Amino acid sequence: MNSTNRGRQTKDGIRIYDPSDSAGMMAAGALASQILDAMPEHVFPGQSTASIDKVILDMVDAAGAKSATIGYKGYQHASCISVNHVVCHGIPGDKTLKDGDILNIDVTVIVDGWFGDTSRMYVAGKLSRKAERLIQVTHDSLLRGIEAVKPGNTFGDIGHAIQSFVESHRMSVVRDFCGHGLGRVFHAPPNVVHYGRPGTGAVLEPGMFFTIEPMVNLGRPETKTLADDWTAVTRDKSLSAQFEHSIGVTEDGFEIFTLSAADKFHPTYQP
Ligand code: MF3
Ligand code: CO
Ligand code: CO
Repeated sequence: MNSTNRGRQTKDGIRIYDPSDSAGMMAAGALASQILDAMPEHVFPGQSTASIDKVILDMVDAAGAKSATIGYKGYQHASCISVNHVVCHGIPGDKTLKDGDILNIDVTVIVDGWFGDTSRMYVAGKLSRKAERLIQVTHDSLLRGIEAVKPGNTFGDIGHAIQSFVESHRMSVVRDFCGHGLGRVFHAPPNVVHYGRPGTGAVLEPGMFFTIEPMVNLGRPETKTLADDWTAVTRDKSLSAQFEHSIGVTEDGFEIFTLSAADKFHPTYQP
């Protein structure tokens, strides 16, 4: 461990963590991902998103961890639950899920001061063919982005990998929200955008920790935020999907902090 490097920041303000810091991120990521692993049995037609959020908060409490979202800029819930044309930051509430609804559940926890942030898609009841396509393309676009992560590549390479894949399927990448550095803090530089040109942007270095969390729309990319100041929806009301992992840059590639131990991250997973 090189103590002179501890807390170093790049000229873009990106913090470089020590190799030993990965253990903390792995613990936080594991809890966030375990919580998402438990969600399928709680997602069904007639269920309210507030009930799902309650299960999540109970699991965070039982683990002796903290929710990163409760109290964050006034947000009051342990998750964001974004249904159908909601792009992100859906607020859990009393409204109940209908057959065929698709939803993203996004959980961020703090374990021993380390942040784990991950989200996946779920379906209530029967999945339509078009929603299945959207979910598969969104999931695969995240994996394409992650595969572009290695020292010497740039953030533009990540965005390009995601955008080119999504657009080859005639879907669109949301521009209004992005991934972010994280670690000992929730949101830090850089903004990890999910579009871009190869070779542009900051160069990836070992010890960078950040999320990749592409939001993909079946229709146009534009969003608007509702009067509650949180809920972001597609302007054209088209369906939207998102997947998110927290990752680190290693000497020869990447490590994923939020892998599903039960292998339930993939959208075709059936309980
Ligand atoms: N977890 C979200 C992200 O991926 C942030 C949610 S902030 C909240 O960055 F306040 F809306 F919960
Ligand atoms: Co998140
Ligand atoms: Co995030």
